Amino acid sequence: MKPLLTPSILAANFANLEADIKAAEKGGADYFHLDIMDGHFVPNISFGPWIAKQMKAITKVPLDAHLMITKPREYIPKFIDAGVELIYPHVEGSYDVYRTVQMIIDHGARAGITLNPATSVVSVEGVIDIIDSVLLMSVCPGFGGQKFIPSTMKKISDLRALLDELKPSVRIAVDGGVTLENIGHLRKAGADFFIAGSAVFNAPDIEQRVRDMRKAMQ
Ligand code: DX5
Ligand code: ZN
Repeated sequence: MKPLLTPSILAANFANLEADIKAAEKGGADYFHLDIMDGHFVPNISFGPWIAKQMKAITKVPLDAHLMITKPREYIPKFIDAGVELIYPHVEGSYDVYRTVQMIIDHGARAGITLNPATSVVSVEGVIDIIDSVLLMSVCPGFGGQKFIPSTMKKISDLRALLDELKPSVRIAVDGGVTLENIGHLRKAGADFFIAGSAVFNAPDIEQRVRDMRKAMQ
C-alpha cells in the first residue's frame, strides 16, 4: 500500500482557508483531515459538517473526519452527507463502538478506529472485522502543535504485527506531531497514512512542504 499524506486543516488559516487548501492540493495532498472537537470529549471546540460541505465545493481531494465527540452517531450521517469518505471514531469513552463503526459502513463510508496514546493496540480486536484502518494518536487529542510521544514508534510496529496476524489489509494512520523529520521513521515502523497539521500549514511554503513530506515518507 502506498503511503498517503493527509494534512489536517486544524492548523490552516481559517481566514483564508481556500488558499491553504489549494496550496496543499498543488503539493500533492492525498487526503484532508477534519478534526472534529465538541469541547466535551476533548477540551477544545473546532467545526462541524458544514466545513466538509464547503471544502467539497473547492477541492477534489478526499476528506476524512476524526471524531473527538461524545455522541458520534448523532453526527455520522451528517458528515457522510457532506461528502466525508472515511471516518475515525475513538474507541475510548464508548461501550458500543462496534455499533458506531457499523453505522459508518451502513451509511456508505469507510471506517477506521482511533486509539489514544494510553490505549492498548489489542483493543482493535473487537472491531477488526469491520474496519479498514487504525488511527494511532501520537499526542493526546485536542490540540494541534503538540510534541510527538516517542513510545508511539513501538506501538506502530506492535500494531503492524498484530494486524498482520488478524487482518493484513488494515492500514495504520498516525496523528499528532508528525513532521518532515520523523515521517520517514514512522513509515519504516509500519505506518501508512500520515496526518500532519502544523508541519504543513505553519510551513513558510505549504505547497513545497507537502511535496517534501511526501518524498520523505516514501
Ligand atoms: C489533535 C488532532 C490532530 C492535529 C495534528 O487532536 O487529532 O489531527 O491536528 O496537529 P499537529 O500535526 O500540529 O500535531
Ligand atoms: Zn486528528
